[in-house]
Amino acid sequence: MHKLIIANWKMNPGTQKDAIRLFSATAKIPHSKNVDVVVCPPFVYLESLSHISASAQGGPALGGQDVFWENPSGAYTGEVSAAMLKSFGVEYVIIGHSERRRLLGETDAVINKKVLTALAAGLKIILCVGEPSEHGLTQTAHGLTRNTKLAKKSVANQLKKDLAGIRSAPNSIFHIPNSSLTIAYEPIWAIGTGIPDKPEDSNSMAVFIKSFLNSKFQIPNSRVLYGGSVNAKNAAAFLDQPKIDGALVGGASLDAKNFKKIIEAAQNKK
Ligand code: PGA
Repeated sequence: MHKLIIANWKMNPGTQKDAIRLFSATAKIPHSKNVDVVVCPPFVYLESLSHISASAQGGPALGGQDVFWENPSGAYTGEVSAAMLKSFGVEYVIIGHSERRRLLGETDAVINKKVLTALAAGLKIILCVGEPSEHGLTQTAHGLTRNTKLAKKSVANQLKKDLAGIRSAPNSIFHIPNSSLTIAYEPIWAIGTGIPDKPEDSNSMAVFIKSFLNSKFQIPNSRVLYGGSVNAKNAAAFLDQPKIDGALVGGASLDAKNFKKIIEAAQNKK
């Protein structure tokens, strides 16, 4: 089964020199054709990394960590357009990461505009969804337990709003090829905390997301990744799940040795 492993470097590393070093080490990780590897660095490193990416046969594809909803240019201070990303050979873009939703106040309406623009521009999108701890976990006498029903409701609500109009938008492509839309399920309480979800619970969420996209948006067989404290040790347990198609990796992608183990775990899956 084909797996997609995405490195989300977030606002790391601190210098271009280190970014080139990390990307070069990542590009050298051998992997078979059944694994696609994508690196999403900060915008400012894309230009220099695009030269390495273009020259590394079978090396990682590049992804942006965000994109603006207007394209290709205009009076939008601080923003980066889909056309600009594409000019550096960027193929993928992360949209709706929970850190942007929380720290920058990105709403589902904003995320929806970005999704429509990025798809129309021909970028492959990684749409992040996931419930906050108050929806996903419930305090009981035995400690915290998973509240799957509420978590699914929260995710369905995001998907409904974030993907609104993808079938009916004018002029479009909105025959979405499956490879253009990937959902990353990232429970917010699992991101950067060292407390990952239980692989079976994420698998059940992946089943739910796939069936929701099929019934609400007529998108069959969509790709769903898991993200949130994935590391070299636990990656195989997630990638073993039948409905999880890959991983979105933050912290553990900043060390090529750890990231290599995650790629190997993906490669060893049937
Ligand atoms: P983490 O981040 O692997 O450091 O938890 C994942 C993400 O935010 O995409």
